[in-house]
Amino acid sequence: MSLFNKHAVLERNSILLVVGILIVIAIGGLVEIVPLFYLKSTIEKVQGMRPYTPLELAGRNIYIREGCYLCHSQMIRPMRDEIERYGHYSLAAESMYDHPFQWGSKRTGPDLARVGNKFSDLWHVNHLIDPRSVVPESVMPGYPFLAKAELKVADISADLTINRMVGVPYTDEQIANAQADLMAQANPDDDNVDDFLERYKVAYGDTERFPVVRDYDGNPDKVTEMDALVAYLQMLGTLVDFSIYDDKADLR
Ligand code: HEC
Repeated sequence: MSLFNKHAVLERNSILLVVGILIVIAIGGLVEIVPLFYLKSTIEKVQGMRPYTPLELAGRNIYIREGCYLCHSQMIRPMRDEIERYGHYSLAAESMYDHPFQWGSKRTGPDLARVGNKFSDLWHVNHLIDPRSVVPESVMPGYPFLAKAELKVADISADLTINRMVGVPYTDEQIANAQADLMAQANPDDDNVDDFLERYKVAYGDTERFPVVRDYDGNPDKVTEMDALVAYLQMLGTLVDFSIYDDKADLR
């Protein structure tokens, strides 16, 4: 009976009740949040991940600008139907350099997390200019202006700097050479190609992997927004080599 009497004190004094509620909620919050500070990382590191090259980053900016994420997700869920259609389910580490992430929330079109190397550059160019020229039943809008618009590259160093501020490990050298690196990746004849490849290579087991240099839009006269967007699409999901993992064991 005495316990109920003590409880009555809280019920009659609203301020005391609020303080009591805050204490109880704070304990729950601490139990959930404090352990996270002691985890070194909640993202498991995987081999092959590297920050986006300047050209890919520029393409990613266009992807965001045009709202591609409104119809396309970039997150393959660990369910059999998704894995059979799109490939290995997405790992947290695969979007560790994405600011903001592009997981998306709606799939009017297919997931794009592993679209890299699935089609040729020419297919992408044709598809982006006029989707119905390659997929007659498509409801995707065309983006023909991308092939004509010269890519604006003046801000790309600043873009890398901002990404570094939020945790992407770009080096001073990568930031200083961002504009030259961007041009080099879209032009195999550029004098800067070797330096560019050296700057963005990534260790992979005993070997090294390099980003891909080519004229993505098939127009050698200028570097267009199409070059950047296709470069981005063609690298999506290609950094981690899943052939070395046992997929079937993961599915069980
Ligand atoms: C209104 C919704 C919509 C928007 C916006 C949209 N798409 Fe699509 N996309 C689709 C649909 C539907 C398909 C499937 C039919 C097709 O292949 O055209 C598709 C297919 C694709 C494919 C082929 C994927 C595959 O595996 O078959 C790519 C690549 C693609 N879109 C890229 C883009 C990019 C890049 C943008 C932004 C510039 C974009 N889409 C904007 C609806 C959209």
